[in-house]
Amino acid sequence: MQNGTSANGAMEFFNLKSMPHITRVLDRNQKIQPSILHVIGNTPLVKLERIPKSEGVQCDMYAKCEYLNPGGSVKDRIAYRMVLDAEKKGILIPGKSVIIEPTSGNTGIGLALAAAVKGYRCIIVLPEKMSDEKVNTLLALGTEIIRTPTEAPSDSPESNIGVAKRLVKEIPDAVLLDQYNNVCNPLAHYDGTAEEILWSLDDDVDMLVIGAGTCGTISGTAHKVKERCPKCIVVGVDPYGSILAQPDELNVSDVQMYEVEGIGYDFLPRVLDRKVIDRWVKTDDKGALTMARRLIREEGLLCGGSGGAAMCAAVKAAKSLKPGQKCVVLLPDNIRNYMTKFISDQWMEARDLKPVITNDKIWWWNSVVTEKMVSPISTVKHNATPSDALAALQQSNRDVVAVVNDKGSVRGIFSADNARRRLINLSGSLSEDLEKFLVKKYYKVDLINKTTLGAVSRLLDIAPYVVVVETDISSHIQKPLGIITSEDLLKHITTNKPMNGH
Ligand SMILES: Cc1ncc(COP(=O)(O)O)c(C=O)c1O
Repeated sequence: MQNGTSANGAMEFFNLKSMPHITRVLDRNQKIQPSILHVIGNTPLVKLERIPKSEGVQCDMYAKCEYLNPGGSVKDRIAYRMVLDAEKKGILIPGKSVIIEPTSGNTGIGLALAAAVKGYRCIIVLPEKMSDEKVNTLLALGTEIIRTPTEAPSDSPESNIGVAKRLVKEIPDAVLLDQYNNVCNPLAHYDGTAEEILWSLDDDVDMLVIGAGTCGTISGTAHKVKERCPKCIVVGVDPYGSILAQPDELNVSDVQMYEVEGIGYDFLPRVLDRKVIDRWVKTDDKGALTMARRLIREEGLLCGGSGGAAMCAAVKAAKSLKPGQKCVVLLPDNIRNYMTKFISDQWMEARDLKPVITNDKIWWWNSVVTEKMVSPISTVKHNATPSDALAALQQSNRDVVAVVNDKGSVRGIFSADNARRRLINLSGSLSEDLEKFLVKKYYKVDLINKTTLGAVSRLLDIAPYVVVVETDISSHIQKPLGIITSEDLLKHITTNKPMNGH
């Protein structure tokens, strides 16, 4: 026998019948599911232990694990409900209709799941900010994807909502299910999510904390919970940079970019009913994403960033509850969507959401970036053509050039890699605006911030080059000094290595 296990030893090892058993009650009515769509909902409500204790929360806290839905998020519920409703009304015709939807990704994945099972063509219009993981899931499900600029206001033709509305007019048999205005969005939660929470806690819930995006989840769930348990305090969670919490106090200039995906908007969707929301808590990226990482590490709940935002708000709001009272926090989506984002230490460090790891054993780790070690980079003006940028690229010995505005401040990066990608896109051509060719994701370090080589090395773990700039404090002009690649860093540390350096 291999590993010295005797035949008798193996029999003893596999004497499974006689061992102590742990058995669970099986749902005999659901031996087989007709399709994956029938598995949507009925997510578990899980008691939280370590975080409430360490945060000094007295009441019981429970997580509604929506991330365990088959498509990975709470939005599977509404996607399936909207499809069923539209089919019943004859608006969606299997084999003929094309589903088009603007989304932050998860409704798209829910719709793509339904479209894959039912055989619809599906086109999802998605802002650039949303993760590549969501894009890859959508592609795997057979969806066509159109990306739109994150910064485009929702009422502009360039936004994901604007583009989807245009496509519906252009593509024959296209149907926009429209999660922002479709009553099936809150209804799916009124009939499903809320019923499940009430059933799990025997209609006794003191607080419900839910992140607000379209607001279908919070509005629909709150309506039913308040009917059956009027004492329940409903807390809406809204990121700084969004207007959902204070629509009257803010104006458009308060709308800012934030990293957490799926929550917050610059307009009030029709499926938001502010009457059923008792309190709002604002959250920031650092608090939300740090808490999402804690939910994963300390509670084993593999959720996304908006779950972290909801938990962050819940920990604050639940401090007003007493022992024995019950607070439910909803975790909308899954870690899968963020594997290269907040799950990555380097990604968090690059955005100052976490301190850069220390490494005292490496001699250069704490040295500061200086102008001397930066390789110069060519620049082109933002109003140049992509052909001009390509020519500048070919003349320089680098595969990137910096694109600057009229004052010489960095506006973006033009890279050979990104230009190739743009040109294989059917709509891409060298006669387009240079803006369309710019690399959206790149890292910039400013000499005045005295960034360490250790921090640069961490950035190079997740990006091929780091652009070094120098900011003029009075004019805020960010002059590009050059770039640092792994090659530059290696050259610097090998040529400057002290006698006793590692
Ligand atoms: C990750 C994530 N969290 C929260 C939400 C908010 O849900 P709702 O649109 O029902 O307000 C969404 C919506 O897309 C989401 O994708």
